Amino acid sequence: MALPGPSVSSTALVTGASSGIGAVIARELAARGHSVTLVARREERLRSLASEIESEHGVTATALACDLAAQESRNGLESEIRGLGRSVEVLVNNAGFGSRGQFVSNDPGRMRDMVRLNVEAVVDMTSRFLPSMAGRGRGAVVNVASLAAFQPLPGSAIYAASKSFVLSFSEAIHTELRGSGVTVTAVCPGPVKTEFVQAAGMAGVEHDTPDLIWMSAEEVGRQAVTGTEQGKRVVVPGTLNRAQSLLGQHTPRALGLPIFGRIWESATSRGSLEP
Ligand SMILES: NC(=O)c1ccc[n+]([C@@H]2O[C@H](COP(=O)([O-])OP(=O)(O)OC[C@H]3O[C@@H](n4cnc5c(N)ncnc54)[C@H](OP(=O)(O)O)[C@@H]3O)[C@@H](O)[C@H]2O)c1
Repeated sequence: MALPGPSVSSTALVTGASSGIGAVIARELAARGHSVTLVARREERLRSLASEIESEHGVTATALACDLAAQESRNGLESEIRGLGRSVEVLVNNAGFGSRGQFVSNDPGRMRDMVRLNVEAVVDMTSRFLPSMAGRGRGAVVNVASLAAFQPLPGSAIYAASKSFVLSFSEAIHTELRGSGVTVTAVCPGPVKTEFVQAAGMAGVEHDTPDLIWMSAEEVGRQAVTGTEQGKRVVVPGTLNRAQSLLGQHTPRALGLPIFGRIWESATSRGSLEP
């Protein structure tokens, strides 16, 4: 199994565990006996999930509030984790957010924050914990990217670029680590009914688009952990999404860009613009 077995001296660190896919991944790992360290900004949510996990699965669950977009907060987080006296053997870089709209109309501060969280924090957290996994010859990194990673997306330019970075980075280090006992898995979900939709300024879009394009956070989280157990390089949950990922990769850009842009604009413009 590529996912290391649980031990009393290790923990699985899950970012963005206060809701959606991250909360499901944390539950899935705890169900397999892993102690979990839950990270996000909303501490109350993390505490409540931690106590649910401890009572249901009998593992240690620790809630650590942190704004992962800020380097100094990540420094503090690393010290807190060291204080737990457990090594991080599973790292799930899941925290992230999206947006829609033309780049020229987007709030530049929000775009910078997106790059800091979706890109910089993923690299930084991986740099902090992967070398010791490689040293022990034991560990797994799960990076949550997106279906948006497979092609540029006019109407969500920074989000798609940030997820392309996560996918490219993950596939490259997966290959570098082959045979080391450590795996890196990129998870690329399509649309999932979570708070992501509101945070991206697309509230209501789930009611105006066909049900068949949506997956639940439970299904995506389950497939993320199963794919990690199998040592997969990339997990794209859902048959329709797998087909779309192939189209994204293989359609010539000159043809695909206007089509993907129009489909995205038409799907997302039905939601509210308010985050
Ligand atoms: N839902 C989708 O359709 C979809 C599709 C493809 C990929 N994804 C990706 O899946 C991942 C999880 O998203 P989700 O759908 O589960 O959305 P979600 O329910 O909104 O979860 C996002 C998580 O990220 C955390 N987060 C946001 N900003 C943060 C910050 N500055 N510092 C620390 N934590 C932060 C949030 O917690 P706090 O607010 O408490 O900090 C929350 O726990 C994201 O990377 C997203 O890009 C989602």
